[in-house]
Amino acid sequence: MSDYSLPLSNKVALVTGASRGIGKGIALEFARRGATVILTYVSQSSETLAREVCQAIEALPHKPRAHAVRVDLSTVDGAQLLIGRLLERSEGRLKLDILVNNAGVEKAKSLAELTVDDYDEVYNLNIRGTILLTQAVLPYLSSEGRIFNISSIAARTPFKNFSLYCSSKTALEGLTRVWATELGGNGTTVNCIEPGPVQSDMLDNIPKDIVNLQKALTPIGNRIGTVEEVANIVAGLASKDGAWITGQTISVSGGYAMY
Ligand SMILES: NC(=O)c1ccc[n+]([C@@H]2O[C@H](COP(=O)([O-])OP(=O)(O)OC[C@H]3O[C@@H](n4cnc5c(N)ncnc54)[C@H](OP(=O)(O)O)[C@@H]3O)[C@@H](O)[C@H]2O)c1
Repeated sequence: MSDYSLPLSNKVALVTGASRGIGKGIALEFARRGATVILTYVSQSSETLAREVCQAIEALPHKPRAHAVRVDLSTVDGAQLLIGRLLERSEGRLKLDILVNNAGVEKAKSLAELTVDDYDEVYNLNIRGTILLTQAVLPYLSSEGRIFNISSIAARTPFKNFSLYCSSKTALEGLTRVWATELGGNGTTVNCIEPGPVQSDMLDNIPKDIVNLQKALTPIGNRIGTVEEVANIVAGLASKDGAWITGQTISVSGGYAMY
């Protein structure tokens, strides 16, 4: 097959939180385009889901490879544990080309109700986890690497009672811009993707009035997006075609948010 039909062949992608939702969609799309995919999940109950994603990938006609690792990336040592497992599996020859920091959690609580535990729950994964994993991946990231931080339109839309989630997603934009300046020397790009609402377990927890308002304000079709619509953008930028785009925040929201 031509490079065009499998633009990610010979690439190895690590996608966090890919047992379901957007991460699963990105993992599948990377594999469809030829990449080997390592996916992570955290819950015992998602073990079967993660295995099914790997099976779906390995059943593709060009037989891409997939491997799932259960790891809690909100912990201080989660990222190093993950890299240790990958080093073991690759017998010390770990090479990664693409990192997608996708795993994230939300929390609906008013400012007055917030506790330190709430802060830790959201920030330890959405921000500290992203920093520690990206740091841990760096020694194994090939030149012309691709890093994606999955943020949200919530980074720039102030949803009432979502201060931890919204602000953590804003912080991802800042990390993206700084890392783009630090890592660009060898052609590595770092970009922030901000999906609007897409159907997923996370969206099921968002109040319906918020989602309905988002639909009403979405120029394309007054609808929510699909996982595939987000995955296609990430997969496109992950290939050679994305070489000249870095430090950007890209709204993938049918025009709900226009930057
Ligand atoms: N859905 C939306 O409408 C939407 C819109 C904009 C942005 N986003 C962003 O897109 C990303 C994915 O969202 P989603 O809706 O697909 O989420 P989701 O369906 O809730 O899935 C979350 C994924 O993250 C994993 N995860 C959760 N906590 C983790 C931890 N401590 N360590 C490692 N992995 C962990 C989960 O693993 P388990 O299955 O094992 O629990 C699961 O694979 C998030 O960053 C979210 O903020 C989502």
